[in-house]
Amino acid sequence: MSHHRPLTHWHAANGTPLHMRHVRPDDTERLRLALGRLSPEARRQRFLAPINTISDAFVRDLTETPRERQCTLLVLRQENGEEIPVAGGRFVIGDTPETADTCEFALTIGDAWQGQGIGRRLLRALIDEAEARGLRRMLGHVLLDNRAMLALARQQHFSIEASPDDAQTRLAILDLPRRKTRRRRGVLGRLAGMFGKR
Ligand SMILES: CC(C)(COP(=O)(O)OP(=O)(O)OC[C@H]1O[C@@H](n2cnc3c(N)ncnc32)[C@H](O)[C@@H]1OP(=O)(O)O)[C@@H](O)C(=O)NCCC(=O)NCCS
Repeated sequence: MSHHRPLTHWHAANGTPLHMRHVRPDDTERLRLALGRLSPEARRQRFLAPINTISDAFVRDLTETPRERQCTLLVLRQENGEEIPVAGGRFVIGDTPETADTCEFALTIGDAWQGQGIGRRLLRALIDEAEARGLRRMLGHVLLDNRAMLALARQQHFSIEASPDDAQTRLAILDLPRRKTRRRRGVLGRLAGMFGKR
């Protein structure tokens, strides 16, 4: 993946043009502002506990952690030539020999932008990137009452398991690379295939 060009563009349900790109060092301030606008509930679901403020250290970690250790993707909109983050997703690679092929993901979709397929796009992009890097496992900690995230993870073929350290959270686990499921084609599909069209 190029780290400078947007990875993809699309339109939100309300027509707003959105794009996805890798985080950059100059994103710190726009991320601090965007994270500061998250509702208490979105913060609780993201950080697995009620938290009042998101620390500057956390924001710096998003922009300053070397790419070899993590992947942070942002979804942004434009307003008066300025990029405004509406969502972000991240994985961080384990830092011990036992966890070096495993990454841990988290997603944060701005409250007004939830339920529009942005989380699914981000999670798929993170899985693609983890696969491309040759990682073997992706996992995420999800609160037991986070129906949206549990449903999204299941939809993307994660298995949901009990967490060894916390009865209030679940572990979403995906082994990589994903097995390719062959698309079943009916008679028309096979005929189209014979003529080189799909
Ligand atoms: C959980 C979260 C990441 C989901 O992202 P999203 O952009 O709102 O979800 P999407 O629109 O991409 O939905 C994808 C799937 O998730 C599930 N889903 C989304 N919202 C849901 C809801 N309110 N209830 C149940 N399932 C829901 C559905 O299966 C949906 O698929 P469908 O559209 O085919 O039905 C997002 O709501 C969020 O950031 N919440 C706050 C922070 C958080 O919970 N982070 C996760 C910690 S890892």
